[in-house]
Amino acid sequence: MRRRKKPGSEEKLLSKDKLVVKEPEKYKGKWCSVFQQIGEIHVEIGTGRGQFITTMAEKNPHINYIGIEMKEEVLLRAVTKAEKKQLENIVFLWFDANRLIEVFEKGELHRIYINFCDPWPKNRWAKRRLTYRSFLETYKSLLDKQGEIHFKTDNEKLFEFSLNEFSICDLRLRNITFDLHQSDLKENITTEYEDKFSQMGKPIYRCEAVKRN
Ligand SMILES: C[S@@+](CC[C@H](N)C(=O)[O-])C[C@H]1O[C@@H](n2cnc3c(N)ncnc32)[C@H](O)[C@@H]1O
Repeated sequence: MRRRKKPGSEEKLLSKDKLVVKEPEKYKGKWCSVFQQIGEIHVEIGTGRGQFITTMAEKNPHINYIGIEMKEEVLLRAVTKAEKKQLENIVFLWFDANRLIEVFEKGELHRIYINFCDPWPKNRWAKRRLTYRSFLETYKSLLDKQGEIHFKTDNEKLFEFSLNEFSICDLRLRNITFDLHQSDLKENITTEYEDKFSQMGKPIYRCEAVKRN
């Protein structure tokens, strides 16, 4: 039987890759030093195969991107995409989002993307959802004063749940849409899951939650 490796443990392929940051705890408060430029840091949690974040990095060379993913084999796909595009403004963490405070300092991030996170449909699993209030309080502390969270999902119930959680955590909601692909949002970069669900005819839900000053 194949043993599943824990994120953060030693691993042959990922440990050799220069785009995957080893011992990310060492860069807490110093993430700017990892990049070749000073710029905003945008993080995607649950990056998956990386279509979204690598396209964003390509289109916005002045922004520094960090993709976080806990599944090694999936992360490898994202890393390969970034390498093919020869991107210099992106790195990846093979890491569990439950441990974000170990790697980022308060106010160090400007934007967090959560795209098509696992819905954990049963009520008793609510605390595992990446938009549950305890996660949101952590994100809020890591974001700078104007910091924002951008959220997309195909799951109506998760979207409703998340809107409620954003409000409970005193985040201001803006640009809410219940059908992103029919909305007038000018530029939308899709994820792999988004392409799959929209090809099935499902609407995509999206909103932005910003910190109040
Ligand atoms: C449903 S997939 C969506 C992938 C991608 N964002 C997309 O839209 O195509 C969710 C991803 O989040 C990752 N994930 C779930 N919980 C996580 C956590 N606590 N920390 C890091 N990654 C996580 C999963 O491994 C999976 O690759």
